[in-house]
Amino acid sequence: MSGRCFGVYVLELVGQDDRFAAAEAATAASDVTPIAAGLATARGLDDGFETLALTHRAAELVGTTDASLDSAAVLLEAAGIDRDGTVAVRARDVRSTAGIDTQAAERRLGQVLVDRGFEVDLEDPDHVLQAFFAGADDASAVDADRDTADIVPVAPGDDGLCALGWLAVETDRDFADRQPTDRPFFQPGSMDPALARALVNLAGAGPGTTVLDPMCGTGGLLLEAGRVGATPIGGDAQRKMVRGAGENLRALLDGQWHVYRGDAGRVPIADDSIDAVVFDAPYGRQSKIEGDLDTLVADALAEARRVAARAVVVGDRPWNDAAESVGWTVESTFQRRVHRSLIRHVAILQSRTDGV
Ligand SMILES: C[S@@+](CC[C@H](N)C(=O)[O-])C[C@H]1O[C@@H](n2cnc3c(N)ncnc32)[C@H](O)[C@@H]1O
Repeated sequence: MSGRCFGVYVLELVGQDDRFAAAEAATAASDVTPIAAGLATARGLDDGFETLALTHRAAELVGTTDASLDSAAVLLEAAGIDRDGTVAVRARDVRSTAGIDTQAAERRLGQVLVDRGFEVDLEDPDHVLQAFFAGADDASAVDADRDTADIVPVAPGDDGLCALGWLAVETDRDFADRQPTDRPFFQPGSMDPALARALVNLAGAGPGTTVLDPMCGTGGLLLEAGRVGATPIGGDAQRKMVRGAGENLRALLDGQWHVYRGDAGRVPIADDSIDAVVFDAPYGRQSKIEGDLDTLVADALAEARRVAARAVVVGDRPWNDAAESVGWTVESTFQRRVHRSLIRHVAILQSRTDGV
């Protein structure tokens, strides 16, 4: 996808946390609004959309209706279609929340298109009509009062929603083939690449930007920052981590990168010279901590504030107060359950504009 795509799109989100996925999508699309389980709308897609970790695809919206085959067929029969060529229908029961027979949906909607004069090519169609069927989702309820003009979010208990759209972009989600255990240097506690990708996207990483991780460990965040076109810089107090991260970057990343050994409380970088800082604070379970954790993270947040105007911090506890105490504004926060006894707290930080 090159340049901005205008129009209204329906996005199919990844995972169970629509709010977090929508926040990441908003880094590469405008006015992202959850409307049902795993679905959101957006007004316009920007460069970098394909790099999103928590969105599967975007389809140019034809319309929405309730989650029944009859209503979907009526919607498609009446819809304006401004394209020629062969077509195929791909139906999805998003997170199995609508209880729809997707094969029956594909046959039914495919027949509507044939009746409208289109030729079906299931192998290599010119145009793919996505039919998303989804039930209600808490996320959509939260946003029910937002003005999304013609699209009414699905409230809990409603019969769900069907959104039809022409496939526009699919994201290149190759994370499963790039697990931390596949890297030359691996340590327990290395971050999952899809989460690392979402975090660097939320930090604003992209072509022409520089991203610092002052506690880089095996380099998971650096790799994803580099893969979306940023220049990654990594630091760590442990020599083995710095050497290991370098090994991973050398083996897995084209383009520039830098690593250094040092304390996150004193980074060897000039004021306001970095676009964003992203770090995954030690949890004290698997990673060695140089100094006490509260001081370490407070110093690291102060240094991040000195060198950049945007940051993302992850930890096994919220670091919001520490961030605000050194001049950050907490733009948004998220909680990601890792397992029964570990929740990752994510905070998106923006520099305060009141010069404090
Ligand atoms: C949770 S790990 C980061 C894991 C990393 N995101 C990855 O995917 O491998 C935290 C890192 O902080 C480093 N660390 C601990 N104290 C530090 C300090 N004072 N300055 C810099 N790094 C430090 C540890 O060596 C460890 O590698």
